[in-house]
Amino acid sequence: MNIAITGTGFMGAVHAEALKRLHLNVIGIHGSSPKKSLSASAELSIPRAYEDYQKLISDPDVDAVHITTPNRHHFPMAMAALEAGKHVLCEKPLAMTSSESATLAKLASSKELAAGVNYNIRFYPLCLETRHRLKTGTLGDVHSIMGSYAQDWLLYETDYNWRVLAEEGGKLRAIADIGTHLLDLVQSMTGLKVTEILADLHTIHPTRQRPQGEVQTFTSAQGETQSVPIETEDLGTLLLRFDNGAKGSLFVSQATAGRKNCLRYEIAGRQGSVAWNSEEPNVLWLGHRDKPNETLVKDPFITSAEASSFTAYPGGHAEGFPDTFKMCFRAFYDYIAAGDFTAPHSFPTFEDGHREIVLCEAVLKSHEEERWVQV
Ligand SMILES: NC(=O)c1ccc[n+]([C@@H]2O[C@H](COP(=O)([O-])OP(=O)(O)OC[C@H]3O[C@@H](n4cnc5c(N)ncnc54)[C@H](O)[C@@H]3O)[C@@H](O)[C@H]2O)c1
Repeated sequence: MNIAITGTGFMGAVHAEALKRLHLNVIGIHGSSPKKSLSASAELSIPRAYEDYQKLISDPDVDAVHITTPNRHHFPMAMAALEAGKHVLCEKPLAMTSSESATLAKLASSKELAAGVNYNIRFYPLCLETRHRLKTGTLGDVHSIMGSYAQDWLLYETDYNWRVLAEEGGKLRAIADIGTHLLDLVQSMTGLKVTEILADLHTIHPTRQRPQGEVQTFTSAQGETQSVPIETEDLGTLLLRFDNGAKGSLFVSQATAGRKNCLRYEIAGRQGSVAWNSEEPNVLWLGHRDKPNETLVKDPFITSAEASSFTAYPGGHAEGFPDTFKMCFRAFYDYIAAGDFTAPHSFPTFEDGHREIVLCEAVLKSHEEERWVQV
């Protein structure tokens, strides 16, 4: 397999590193200008630097494309790559609207190609362990799901990134950017689907300071700035109803001081509960009513085959954020290598990506109309 990456920011480098750790062949990179393609090619030791995206997708040596550009480019880039016969691994969110994501999911299903969306958090070993325990009924029927995803990198008015603009990232920001990781995770682990949503969103900064030029993710504005109006939310609360009658509440914020990248869930069933925190990803809390609670430390000799097959290191050797990319990509490329494009997927697909956009639109509608919205 020969792989090319578009996007040279935070995610471009993370994808390149994860692919190289899998000993996959990253042959080319494309940035927002020929100069950026060249500098990324040198920095990341990737041989080919594409002048434009057309050159990337018309390169006959490229088998698969990783899309790591800002959200508004995902739809046209993924469409063009699929039409050129390339496998596509796209960053989340898959597109800006559900009509775009539906078109992509439909096109992907008509091709003998793999099409994945990078909901990488699914691949923390202890999230796979949670999934296994829920699937095998150890915790009993799920009746409630509590979760949050909090960061602080957009706390100040001077914190700026393309994501804060609706035209670059979409009308929904915190929920679409990080909340969809949480929504995807709880649904993929429990096998339940969200059927109704009540959302309450809040924008702390109605204006932000935009610096000249680009600002890389997780950095602050420097030098001269210009005040720009902001319509996307900094935080939001969701009440959820699931298809088995379970209830959920999720809180998402990009402005909670001290929380750097903290996704937490607590899922309760009739026999027990389970809780996890992405800032301590190698520990899983197991809650019991009639015996002492337990903590399970990641260890492939103790966890289920579902978790241990995506665990690279023995117990006591911490695994984290970069490993989830490696494992998500391993699932994607193993699927391609197996060559059966009708087989069940072990990675998040364009269908999953489409479902997240549908949920985002329901969140926005619920907030605007101040009512429960069916999905
Ligand atoms: N899965 C995850 O954990 C995760 C984490 C962060 C971001 N993301 C997603 O990854 C994507 C990129 O986010 P990021 O944080 O890396 O942003 P970023 O701003 O750090 O990087 C985006 C890069 O894309 C480049 N770019 C802009 N327009 C381009 C174009 N037309 N062609 C080629 N390159 C172009 C920019 O120059 C920049 O280098 C977003 O969709 C985001 O939602 C996913």
